[in-house]
Parts: sequence; C-alpha cells; structure tokens
Amino acid sequence: MAVIGLGLSAFGGVLAEIYYFKPQTVLVSTMFLAIISYVAGLAMETFIPRWGYFRYLNPFPFNKKENAMIVIMASAAANSALGTEVLAVQRLFYNINPNPAASIFLLFSSQMIGYGIGGLMRSILLYPSKMLYPGVLPLISMFDALFDAGAKKKLRLFYIAFFAIFIWELFPEWMFPLLTGFSVFCLANPNSADFTRVFGGSNGNEGLGLLSICFDWQYISGGVNPFAIPLQAQFSNFLGYILCMAVFVAVYYKNIWSSLAFPFLSQELFYANGTLYNQTLILNANFEVDPTLLAEQGLPFYSGTWVTQLLVTNLGMAATFTHLLLWNRDDMKAAWEWLAPSALRKYRENFTSESLKFWKQGTTEEREAELADNKDLDPHYRQMLKYPDAPNSWYAITLVLSAITALVVIYKTNSTLPWWGFLVSLALATISILFFGTLYAITGLQFIIQPFVQMIGGFIHPGKPMANMYFVLFSYNSVNQAQLLLRDLKIAQYTKLAPRAAFTAQTIGTLLGCILNFTLMNSIIDNQREILLSVEGTNIWSGQQPQQYNSQAIAWGGLAHELFANGKRYDWVAWAYVLGLIVPVPFWLVHKKYPSLRLDYLYTPVICYYIGWLCVGINSSILSYFSIAWFSQWFLRTRYPKWFVKYNYILGAALDGGTQVMVFILSFAVFGAAGNSHLFPQWWGANQNGNYDRCLLIDD
Ligand SMILES: *[C@@H]1O[C@H](CO)[C@@H](O)[C@H](O)[C@H]1NC(C)=O
Ligand SMILES: *[C@@H]1O[C@H](CO)[C@@H](O)[C@H](O)[C@H]1NC(C)=O
Repeated sequence: MAVIGLGLSAFGGVLAEIYYFKPQTVLVSTMFLAIISYVAGLAMETFIPRWGYFRYLNPFPFNKKENAMIVIMASAAANSALGTEVLAVQRLFYNINPNPAASIFLLFSSQMIGYGIGGLMRSILLYPSKMLYPGVLPLISMFDALFDAGAKKKLRLFYIAFFAIFIWELFPEWMFPLLTGFSVFCLANPNSADFTRVFGGSNGNEGLGLLSICFDWQYISGGVNPFAIPLQAQFSNFLGYILCMAVFVAVYYKNIWSSLAFPFLSQELFYANGTLYNQTLILNANFEVDPTLLAEQGLPFYSGTWVTQLLVTNLGMAATFTHLLLWNRDDMKAAWEWLAPSALRKYRENFTSESLKFWKQGTTEEREAELADNKDLDPHYRQMLKYPDAPNSWYAITLVLSAITALVVIYKTNSTLPWWGFLVSLALATISILFFGTLYAITGLQFIIQPFVQMIGGFIHPGKPMANMYFVLFSYNSVNQAQLLLRDLKIAQYTKLAPRAAFTAQTIGTLLGCILNFTLMNSIIDNQREILLSVEGTNIWSGQQPQQYNSQAIAWGGLAHELFANGKRYDWVAWAYVLGLIVPVPFWLVHKKYPSLRLDYLYTPVICYYIGWLCVGINSSILSYFSIAWFSQWFLRTRYPKWFVKYNYILGAALDGGTQVMVFILSFAVFGAAGNSHLFPQWWGANQNGNYDRCLLIDD
C-alpha cells in the first residue's frame, strides 16, 4: 500500500499540474488510479516471494481495503491545488516571485483547512445513510468487480485497451496532431477567418469546432469520461452545447458588448482597441486599483463570449435553487431535516458540557451502545464502529494549525488580505460546506460557487484584486477540499477501510501533492512563460486557467462596481442572478400541464451552464464525445446489456489510463515540461506554424 500509494501520488500530483497548463481542462481519472493500483498490487503479490524474510514484505494477498487506501491517497494528490493558481498568477501577471517556503506553507494550509472544517461536520455530512455520495458508486462497483471471481477476463480487456490507446496517442498527441480536429470545412477552405471561428477547434481558443472530428482520447474524455454518464444526464449538456454555438455566433457577429473588436474566444482583458490590457498600469505599489491610473487607462473589456460565459454561469447557479425547490423538494427536505425545530431541540437536550470535550473519545462499546437504537444510521457506518474513528481532535488540530499557518503566510507574502477578511472567508466556507455539502452528498450535484464567492470577496475588499484571489482561495477551495475529504471517508466506509487509515492516507497524499504541484508549476512557468501569457497558447501548453483566475480577480476584485453594477457595461452579468431564479419555472409549469413532453428530463441549470461551455480550449472533441457517450450508454446498454455491465466502466478507465500515461511521458520527453520542447517536424498532418486542423490562423 505504501509503495504503490506514494508512487501513484507522485504520478498524480505531477500529472495534475501538467494538466493545469493545458488548453483544455483535463482531470486525472480516479477510475484509472483505482485500476492501475489494483494491477500493481497484484503484481507485487505475485512477484515478491513468500519464503524466509520476504514473508514480511508479502504476508497476504492484495485486498480491497489496501486498494481503497491507495485510491484515497493518490486521488488526494492528483489535484492541482488552487493555491498554485494564486502563485502562478502572481508570477505571470504581477511579476512577484513568492518565497518558496512561504509558497509551500500557503499550499499546505489552503489544502488542509477544508479538511479540518469538513471533518468536524462528519456527524451531519457523513454518518447518516441519506448522505449517499452517488458520485462514488461506479468506483465502488468496480472495486466489487475486481475483487470477485471472474476478474481475469475483465483485466484482459483492460490490458488490451490500455496498450492500444497508449500507442495510438503518439499520433494525435505528437506525430499527427491534425487528428485532434479533422475538419472537412477547414481543409476545403483554409483561408476564411469565419470558418476558423465556427469549424476550427484543434488548438486552444481557436473556434467552436462544429462538425470537427477528434481522434485524441485525451480531449474526448478530458473533463468527463463519456463511458461514465447516463444518457439522460447527457441530454441537457447536449442541448446546452447546441444553444452555446448559436448564442456565441449571435453575440459575436451582432457585435454585442463590442465583441468584434476582440478575439472570438479569450479569457484575457483588453483595451477598447483590442490590444491586451496591461493591468500593472492600474495598480499601485500595494497591488490595489488606483482610480487616477484607472482613468488614464480606461476600463478593460472582455471578449463577448467570455461575458456570455460569466452571465450563464450566474444564471445556472441561481436556476439551481429554483430547480431544486420545484423538482427535488423531498430531497431538499431530507437534506435540511437537521435544521428543523424538533431536531434542533433534540441537539439542545443532548448538549451537555461533556459533549463539548471533543478530545475525549468514548470507547467503542460505549459508542455502539449509544448508537444502537439510532435508525438513521448508515448500515455501512454501523459496521465501521469496529474501528476507532479518527477523533474530532485530529480535525480540530488540522484546522487550527492550518489557520495559524495561513495567517502568518498572508501577512508574510503581502497578500493584501487582512486577518478579518481571512476569518470571513472561513466563515463563508463553513456555511457553504454545510449547505452545498449536503446537496452534494445527497444528489451528487456540485454547485459552482466560485463566481459567487468572488463577488462577495469583491464587495468586502473593493479595489484589491490580490486580496480577492486569497479570499477565493480560502473560501472556495476549502469547500472543495471538505467535499473531497467527506467523499473519501465515504469511500472508506463503503469499502470498510478504518477511518484513521483513510485520514492518514488523505493527509499524506495531499501534502505530497502540494510539493509536487509547486515544483512542476515553477518548472513549467520557467520554461513556457511566453506561451502561457499569449491569448491562444498552443495545442500543448496554455495559460487559460491562470488567465481566467487573474482576469476574474481584476474584474470582480478590483472593478466589480465599475463593470457589473446596474447601468454599467456588463450589468447583465449581475442581473443573471435574478433572472436565473425564474428560468426553471416555465419548464415546470409546462410539465405539470403536458407531462408527456417529458420536460422533467431537462435540467435547466445544466443547460444554462453549458451555454458557456465552448468559451475556452480545444472544442473539436465535443462531437466525438457525444458520439461515444451515445454508443456506450445507448447502443451497448440496450443491445449488449450483459457486456455493458461487465466491461463498460473498465473499458472507459483503461482508455483514460493508457492516454494519461502516454501524456505523462510525452510531457517530459518532447513537450518541454522541464526544458525545451521538441515538436514533431512540420508536415501536412502537423502544422506547427498554424492551427493543426489547417483552419486560417487568426492573428490577434
Ligand atoms: C490601444 O490603446 C492602448 C491604451 O489606450 C495603447 O496603449 C495601445 O498602444 C493601443 N493599441 C493600438 C494598436 O493602437
Ligand atoms: C505593463 O506595464 C509595465 C509597467 O509599465 C511594464 O513593465 C510591463 O512590461 C507591461 N506589460 C506588458 C505585457 O506590456
């Protein structure tokens, strides 16, 4: 467990950071980590001898608990810590080179604070059986499949798919990148800028990629594996995708928000004449917005599609509330039951001075007796009572230590965030974990609360973009981390892994991940700085994520009032919060009247979010994504249901795995993750001086 866990954590932490600087947001696949650790575990079980002293190295067969512990450790490491985003923005856009020790401690504290808060809420967000965490169920069912008889055949399919895609990825990724986006339209007419905007999509921020075909699994399965999501859930995404293309083209060609003056797709800020905005010119020595300097430079502009994306994200967030109230009233009731007056009264009655002493851990028998008649209890949790729980004190100490470290760091690094702003961010995080965490636990839905938190941060610290970044880091990131911890503790519960082991694995994985994230971030920025600052980036590297974070911080943190207040240039972005509350209502009313239209299949918040989907990255993959999702979730599921049940997830995980290992190797070998890049020589299928799909390169 230790060997494989640490090895995979290192792999995941490095890969996640490489992916952070990719033109398309790609995540390290948890399913893949689960399978590769299983394969490695079997190998160690088979090849380490059992005689003599070797017995101590290989005492028992590899089991499910070890596998779960490895997945928890490695998936905690396989994230790009949001803290690295703050540091990357400081290096790229503020020319600040943060002190390495302070940076590492910033990452440690920002990644661990959420664990502290989330852990202390276990009794609400983890123990009750209605806190189901539906998102982890495919993983659990795969564990079950791997550790029962008949796993051999599944493994054979896994190996074949893994090696086939591993070799194949050499072509679209390196030798023949035209395969990233095969567009008949651009090949027929490589001289039209309009064709690039609509049909192009093989490079970052190139175009919408309409009817372009992608053969690169890395981008097809980048955000979500098409084998994993049921068709019904995909339908709203698909509608949003169609709407997105229509809306983007309309916004751009109708010149709404002066779109024509700026690139079609971009996450950066611009002057009215279309040149890149130089944000250092409006900030004073303390990195705060200076009104006189701002008047000299004028307010910055966004590209029209990016404004659309901001608008529909807010629309979707507001729509989620109404949607849940209308359609999921019972779930909501269940989620908030603990807030009902009767439940609160019960807490008060049980609340003795004894229960405040969180450092005192009752013995197992005591707890079992205490919980024996509690019907709300998860049966999995009941079995877990055999193991001592990680006591509250562990989480409380995590919280306090991280908070103190964070306070020291924000003052040592001139973050401009004052101590009380930090405390407000923690309070906001706590409330969000309680509310959005419950919804996540019950429905698997994750609210995207970043824009909302950014707005509140901007309101509390106007004119301070850097403070806004730190505020978002400690509030938004803590919510994510708390959900991650609770999800992983639930995985532990489902696989009967002792909670102390789960917490230890999670902590080790997270800390190791931070160090690797930081190292890789510095190496990539040192080597690819120019590309990361450009609008388009390349097919391999792109600064889209730090650019987004930065321009959001400047806009919401520095200029919220000037840009988004009523009557200002982008006021519809803020009004979207109000509009969004109404969006689901007509759909619900029509469904009540004409249920046969099946409008209950439409998930309006998701449609809203996806109207902004194509605002960034490599878009040629979408058609292939939906085709494969349809193939898996309709064709295989209805025609070959037996095959589907046995192999579908395994196949998806194998394809992700082979791809991700090849990308890992190529990143260091030829893409310049740590040194110069060596692109494949120019030929028809590898158009290194333009767009890979040979659409016209728009020079802006
Ligand atoms: C655009 O405007 C900015 C600020 O007014 C100026 O610095 C820049 O040179 C202008 N660019 C062009 C191409 O005119
Ligand atoms: C922005 O302005 C600063 C200060 O004048 C200058 O040092 C920097 O090079 C400029 N950045 C860009 C991208 O033009």
